[in-house]
Amino acid sequence: MSIGLRDAVTVITGAGSGIGRATAHAFARRGARVVVTDLDADRARTVAGELDGRGVAAPCDVTDLDALRAVRDLALDRFGRVDLVMNNVGILAVGPVEDIPLDAWQRVIDVNLLGVVRSNLVFLPVLLEQGSGHVINTASTAGLLPYGFDRLPYTATKHAVVGLSESLALYLRPRGIGVSCLCPAGVATNIVEQITFYGEPAAPQGPSFSVVDPDAVGELVADGVDEDRFLILTAPEAAEELRELGADVDQYLTRPRKGAA
Ligand SMILES: NC(=O)c1ccc[n+]([C@@H]2O[C@H](COP(=O)([O-])OP(=O)(O)OC[C@H]3O[C@@H](n4cnc5c(N)ncnc54)[C@H](O)[C@@H]3O)[C@@H](O)[C@H]2O)c1
Repeated sequence: MSIGLRDAVTVITGAGSGIGRATAHAFARRGARVVVTDLDADRARTVAGELDGRGVAAPCDVTDLDALRAVRDLALDRFGRVDLVMNNVGILAVGPVEDIPLDAWQRVIDVNLLGVVRSNLVFLPVLLEQGSGHVINTASTAGLLPYGFDRLPYTATKHAVVGLSESLALYLRPRGIGVSCLCPAGVATNIVEQITFYGEPAAPQGPSFSVVDPDAVGELVADGVDEDRFLILTAPEAAEELRELGADVDQYLTRPRKGAA
């Protein structure tokens, strides 16, 4: 049921940097048109300009429902359809849980979780009307595995994005729409810009995964769309961790921890 990326009309949020930018490049290399959206309008324009005529820039804050509607309208006006939406924005509040204030929780939930919810409200009616399409939600291995206790708002929202994506796949696949959930481990991006720190640093304990280049992640995402795959991992060893967690959660939570992830 793969949509195929050749000539697909794709929309990526947070595409001005890192994983979103690399995925925009990977999609364009495979012949897709890419609506490059980002809170940072300059970054969106720069990345769109890198795509050999296949990119269109659209400034968009995912906390603004009207801004997402404007992106949808731009895509429909320009191309007549939307084939793929990648909800990719993520921010972090980092520190001991007792030091992270409520408004930081609200901000992370507003961006990481409600950003996806808003996108679904705006774009799913288009995909459902077409009876085809693909949705990719960027979560994290921190949304699959328990280790991010120094960043609990992030951990909670990324778990929510995984759960939402799994159930969305059950709903959308019979309606002709693919769903993928990207769960990166370490990727060398500008993500540190999206972190607000609170209190004294508290190192998380858990699996340490290799850090990969964003370009490799872009290719993995494009392959995941071409193969209509749900779970896209950047660190294959996370799959073994997930099996160990599923086999015995109590044992997993009480076993000796490895170094920081
Ligand atoms: N880099 C990693 O190690 C890693 C690991 C796991 C998951 N992730 C996830 O990957 C996704 C992409 O992160 P990245 O590492 O490429 O980060 P990045 O900082 O390089 O890029 C994120 C982009 O999102 C934009 N942005 C921030 N807030 C926005 C908003 N409200 N609306 C629209 N755009 C906004 C920023 O301007 C930036 O260009 C995030 O969801 C992140 O949680 C990253």
